[in-house]
Amino acid sequence: MTSQPHFGLTGLATMGANLARNVAHHDIPVAVHNRTTSRTETFMAEHGAEGPLSAHDSIAGWVGALARPRVLMIMVQAGAATDAVIEEILPHLEAGDILIDGGNANFRDTQRRHEAVGAHGVHFIGSGVSGGEEGALNGPSIMPGGDRAPYEESVRPIFEAIAAQVDGTPCCTYVGPDGAGHYVKMVHNGIEYADMQLIAESYDLLRHGAGLEVPEIARQFERWNESELESFLIEISARVLAKTDEATGRPLVDVILDSAGQKGTGRWTAQDALERGVALTGITEAVFARTLSALKDERVAAADRLAGPTGRAGGADASLAEDLGHALYASKIVSYAQGFAQMAAASEAEGWQLDLGAMATIWRGGCIIRARFLDRIREAYDAEPNLANLMLAEFFAQALERAQEPWRRVVARSAELGIPTPAFSSSLAYYDGYRRARGPASLIQGLRDLFGAHTYRRIDRDGSFHIAWGGDGSEHELG
Ligand code: 6PG
Repeated sequence: MTSQPHFGLTGLATMGANLARNVAHHDIPVAVHNRTTSRTETFMAEHGAEGPLSAHDSIAGWVGALARPRVLMIMVQAGAATDAVIEEILPHLEAGDILIDGGNANFRDTQRRHEAVGAHGVHFIGSGVSGGEEGALNGPSIMPGGDRAPYEESVRPIFEAIAAQVDGTPCCTYVGPDGAGHYVKMVHNGIEYADMQLIAESYDLLRHGAGLEVPEIARQFERWNESELESFLIEISARVLAKTDEATGRPLVDVILDSAGQKGTGRWTAQDALERGVALTGITEAVFARTLSALKDERVAAADRLAGPTGRAGGADASLAEDLGHALYASKIVSYAQGFAQMAAASEAEGWQLDLGAMATIWRGGCIIRARFLDRIREAYDAEPNLANLMLAEFFAQALERAQEPWRRVVARSAELGIPTPAFSSSLAYYDGYRRARGPASLIQGLRDLFGAHTYRRIDRDGSFHIAWGGDGSEHELG
């Protein structure tokens, strides 16, 4: 690299600042910019000596400082702020420059921006970046999509240097054209929602079903983290549960308001699944559970009004704790199977040619959903790239078979106890629905034909059929 930077980054909030530092720590010169100059000054005062960092007050000065082809990364809030920054930067760019959006953009926005920016001869890379503050600084998982050749030539060396590494492989790979990178990041976040919902349901059942105290639950999560469930989210669940509130001396989890926020990526994942006709029950239930959690006042009022069991009938239920580990693992397999099925459907429809095994590979480290079992997902797709559903891979089919009895007991027990487990229950329903060669939808078709003449197909002959329900009741074949 020359000392004149090729790489510029604008947007020095936590993620942007940490990414810029990460790049500089790899001895790659970085020019930084922020809309508010005071933030740039603070950043340089605190971190300017960590590596080859230079700061610029104006967009023109910042763009002008970069060697060509310029690689400019935008780390601002997704949505209107990203459009505003692109609009501001674009007049200063020349054909061949590369603009990267590293925010949590909606992939449809990325497709639109890719086209608009491309009309100026500027390449656009929409890149998912996962790992929070810590990952951005020390090695995130990076999911870049967009123009491949300029990516490979000018961006890949930087991204692969700063990404997390697992077994010597960077957690970064070119994902696919236009919005593919942001799409994959969206599904990553959806899976993150489902993982967290399953963890929350497990905690709820351990606390109010098995009757364990919070520190004991923290230890259970620690034990799970030494099993096939090993993952970042299980690890940090143990840490959050072990934390005591300084002000009250109570477990922190008892003083945090039980109302979860969401910025939108989980909802987009669910919306996209509905539009594509993908059964994405785990993630979607996780989004609904957050929505219900936000209705705090209504729930408080309903607690006095609506009848039902109030959790544990009495006596710590050790077998429930034992069963839960299996239910958690099985439900997790289902939510990943659904997320991967969604990516497969999108890949087909958008013409992206996503390599699903490679997606599992880059999620093994750096990102929020990093987990031991992603190695197994990668192996499953390596063995069978066109796998119709992850649950069908030998390893996962066997794992589900082993887990299913305790999984069923957990779902049955939670219903008896009145403890809601939408992610556990819907995952089991998906598993049971998927493994059924013949289900009850024939009746739905019959009903649709009766009230709306929507017709039905037969199992023994081709064609569309309709019964003259209002007439002589005879069957007619329609052309
Ligand atoms: C990551 C995270 C990160 C962020 C999401 C989730 O991969 O590093 O997914 O992108 O935590 O925005 O946010 P919400 O839970 O608010 O939707």
